[in-house]
Amino acid sequence: MFGTTVVCLIAALQILVDNCLGLRLTNMTAPALQDPRRDMELHCRFDMGGEELYAVKWYKDDHEFFRYTPAAAVSITQFPVDGVHVDRQNSRCMPEGCDLLLKELSRPQSSGAYRCEVSSEAPAFRLASQTHNVTVAGEIFYMELNHDVALVVVLIFLLLTNGNLVLQTSSELPEA
Ligand SMILES: *[C@@H]1O[C@H](CO)[C@@H](O)[C@H](O)[C@H]1NC(C)=O
Ligand SMILES: *[C@@H]1O[C@H](CO)[C@@H](O)[C@H](O)[C@H]1NC(C)=O
Repeated sequence: MFGTTVVCLIAALQILVDNCLGLRLTNMTAPALQDPRRDMELHCRFDMGGEELYAVKWYKDDHEFFRYTPAAAVSITQFPVDGVHVDRQNSRCMPEGCDLLLKELSRPQSSGAYRCEVSSEAPAFRLASQTHNVTVAGEIFYMELNHDVALVVVLIFLLLTNGNLVLQTSSELPEA
């Protein structure tokens, strides 16, 4: 009982503190290393702390490529940035978060610093942002990896067949 009360009090205080602090960016995720053959996921979560969301803006290397302004007539605006292609069908922005799916990645154009920037409406006009560096790993790395895997498979096959031959020979020896 007492524990629950304390937890409730702490939760209530937390809500108060959050509201006083206003807008906070709570979690942004982006892959540090990205396979260019797959789509890239970017997540941004925020807590408005009682303020009104004005915009979520996404940047790559300080170039804005996507903007979500829920109050605007056209809530989503995109800007051309080299190496960035947002899959609109599989991207979703809401008042508490914005998730993007980037397709058709290229190397090295899609690599860079991705930033999520959230801002609140008047009168607070608060701004919160977070940045993650993304390296789109080259196909050469994967080709080398596949090449090595193929070599190991061939080696194992050779070893196994050799072993088989040796075993057959040795098992046939006593009968001969
Ligand atoms: C941030 O989001 C990711 C993916 O949605 C999740 O795995 C991670 O636990 C979250 N981190 C925090 C601190 O909430
Ligand atoms: C991203 O990389 C740059 C150098 O390329 C570095 O200065 C910066 O601190 C990095 N940012 C993060 C969030 O890791």
